[in-house]
Amino acid sequence: MPDPSKKLEDLERQSREGGGPERVEKQHQAGKLAARERLDLLLDPGSFDEMDAFVVHDATAFGMAEKKILGDGVVTGTGRIEGRPVCVFSQDFTVFGGSLSRRNAGKICKVMDLAMKIGAPVVGLNDSGGARIQEGVASLGGYADIFLRNTLASGVVPQISAVLGPCAGGAVYSPAITDFVFVVDGISRMFVTGPDVIKTVTHEEVTPDDLGGARVHAEVSGVAHFRHPDERSCLAAIRSLLGYLPGNNLEDPPAIRSDDPADRAEVALDSLVPENPQKPYDMREAVRLVVDDGRFLETMAGYAGNILTGFARLGGRSVGVVAQQPSVLAGTLDIASSVKGARFVRFCDAFNVPLVTFEDVPGFLPGVAQEHGGIIRNGAKLLYAYCEATVPKVTVITRKAYGGAYDVMSSKHVRGDVNLAWPTAEIAVMGAEGAVAILFKREIETAKDPEATRKKLVEEYRANFAHPYDAAARGYLDAVIRPRETRRRLIHALELLKNKRESLPRKKHGNIPL
Ligand code: HXC
Repeated sequence: MPDPSKKLEDLERQSREGGGPERVEKQHQAGKLAARERLDLLLDPGSFDEMDAFVVHDATAFGMAEKKILGDGVVTGTGRIEGRPVCVFSQDFTVFGGSLSRRNAGKICKVMDLAMKIGAPVVGLNDSGGARIQEGVASLGGYADIFLRNTLASGVVPQISAVLGPCAGGAVYSPAITDFVFVVDGISRMFVTGPDVIKTVTHEEVTPDDLGGARVHAEVSGVAHFRHPDERSCLAAIRSLLGYLPGNNLEDPPAIRSDDPADRAEVALDSLVPENPQKPYDMREAVRLVVDDGRFLETMAGYAGNILTGFARLGGRSVGVVAQQPSVLAGTLDIASSVKGARFVRFCDAFNVPLVTFEDVPGFLPGVAQEHGGIIRNGAKLLYAYCEATVPKVTVITRKAYGGAYDVMSSKHVRGDVNLAWPTAEIAVMGAEGAVAILFKREIETAKDPEATRKKLVEEYRANFAHPYDAAARGYLDAVIRPRETRRRLIHALELLKNKRESLPRKKHGNIPL
């Protein structure tokens, strides 16, 4: 009688081999890790429990009945990251180019369904030639099954995609729906239609990397949130990111013990904002000086640099930081930064991550391209996101808070919980120069010395409006604080707000201006 455990061992070995050592070697030569090597780096050692290792496809056309490989091109299962459960899938390019069959789509859907049941994040490692061509519409149906689950899981469990090879055609829309997309230099290729199709249709010639490589998606399209030079740092970064997030929307993000003193005063903050209001400074520096141990995990760091978004900890608690960056486009809100900020705010709100906003915004970016590109519709996204967010919202105005942008950036009026300002804050409808040009046009034109008159009026306007005390007198600010106290005040505010409950009117869903 054959040894039953020998049979199991044989099957397990076959499944583990995937497309065989030669194809694994080819994968390595292409500068890529194999599907299981990736999971080894992603998950806590020894924590991976594989599912569906013996699943095979059910196609028969094109001689496929004779070509079955156990696992069918995707490795799925559960594991742990820093001891917390995650559901994972890792497409295996060595098996039919990691292409999506009906059966392997079923495996992916099964781990996604499990993730929803147990409230665990889903991490998908994508490396695939797309729809399994031999399966036709059955494969397309498999994609749709995944898209539907991505959508239903959105806002319920965090979903993270790493694109570690090709991801083309409709296949891009699964990562696109997920919360965070990681790309790696030299190996990530994401596009809806590839260079050949583009050449035929539009006669444009472009390399795959210039069309949809890591840099393009991290700096130009805004599809990717994190870009890494290699897979190891990418997979390590997914682990770090999950450390800031809860397993699902009913949990709070994990809090850790912080050795960074809550009352640490940072004297350097007192002189961070230059005296000249036109002069830029680095808001990233302000964020780093305030948060625990100076650690700020920026999302979309290479895109729309006029707004900074990312995760940090304050007193050991996770926070989502949104901050204007005065050193890029003067920190104005434009289309790209509004959309970047809005999506981040909505993620934090969905997953109970308190929002800390550092504000220095001279307004929306003027220009025909911005107006015609829809700054109205896109700026409204950020406004909508802040209005809708019910997580604790704490705001620090460091300098400018002008015009509509003042309202947008987590102001008291859109349910900001604790609103603080530094003495350098200027809260006004617009900057002094612009206001004087409008209000005193005639006086300046008819003055004996127009330039001297203009200067005097600008100074008067500054004295009257370019400070936080009018807003403070109206209760639109809770306090004007010394910059060095910022960390202590933020930690106190977050402690105070930890049990905050605020709700939205009952509705199916809102209609954010997309
Ligand atoms: C079946 C596939 C495949 C696919 C690759 N393979 N893509 N098998 N269906 N979609 C197989 C190849 O036959 C080959 O098998 C192995 O995978 C490795 O492929 P190579 O071409 O040798 O690798 P490489 O040179 O690295 O090129 C990778 C590639 C290329 C750029 C991904 O294979 C490619 O262009 N594939 C087709 C991409 C595509 O058009 N997919 C459909 C997109 S439309 P052997 O046995 O030789 O090792 C789509 C719709 C989704 O996906 C719809 C959702 C709504």
